[in-house]
Amino acid sequence: MDLQKASFSDMAEYGMVWPSYSLYKHICIFPEGQLYAEVNGRLVGSSSSLIVSLKTDYADHTWNEITSQGSFSNHNPNGDSLYGADLSVHPDFRHKGIATLLYNSRKDLAIKLNLRRIIAGGRLYDYYKFAKSMSADEYAKKVVVGELEDPVLSFQLKNGFKFIKILPNYLYDKRSLNYASFVEWLNPQYGIL
Ligand SMILES: CC(C)(COP(=O)(O)OP(=O)(O)OC[C@H]1O[C@@H](n2cnc3c(N)ncnc32)[C@H](O)[C@@H]1OP(=O)(O)O)[C@@H](O)C(=O)NCCC(=O)NCCS
Repeated sequence: MDLQKASFSDMAEYGMVWPSYSLYKHICIFPEGQLYAEVNGRLVGSSSSLIVSLKTDYADHTWNEITSQGSFSNHNPNGDSLYGADLSVHPDFRHKGIATLLYNSRKDLAIKLNLRRIIAGGRLYDYYKFAKSMSADEYAKKVVVGELEDPVLSFQLKNGFKFIKILPNYLYDKRSLNYASFVEWLNPQYGIL
């Protein structure tokens, strides 16, 4: 809970972080999908995932829909996609490669479970700074071509994810103005194992 509040301090102000019973439920429902990073015994990063199947490959969705209001009760062990519901690193431990390690572990998990892909909706972290001059789609495309840097989308692109499209009304968030980038990583070993 402390990590959540520190990592999502803006969202914590309006109560948009996991309640502790949700974190407990995630571990009960899909323990392998709940990862954390520790430095000298201190919890400094976490990554929460569930397995889903979308009706179509790139179906629109909101964070509440895809995570069943954050409960993961819709987790489907027979689904084809690992869904990244949450990723956070404590502000004091950023830019040290911790989220990259967590993403690598997510990829290892997708490979181990022979899932077709990892997908996620990443909040367009700095879009609020540019909203007056461009649409969310224009902003994301500028990040994709390297004209702009976004702490979340640039990180996802550097980690091999592909920007698919904008998801509007994804999550109540003053930074992204509720826009998220639908990103996808295809498992290169899918079907081989
Ligand atoms: C997004 C987030 C998880 C990234 O975490 P992180 O641990 O800082 O990520 P990494 O260190 O792996 O990568 C971040 C940057 O540090 C760089 N980096 C990695 N290791 C490094 C090192 N040893 N030295 C210097 N820089 C390093 C990476 O290249 C990357 O560069 P970029 O900023 O140019 O993209 C973190 O900023 C965060 O928790 N944000 C708030 C919560 C949030 O919004 N989460 C996303 C929800 S959708």
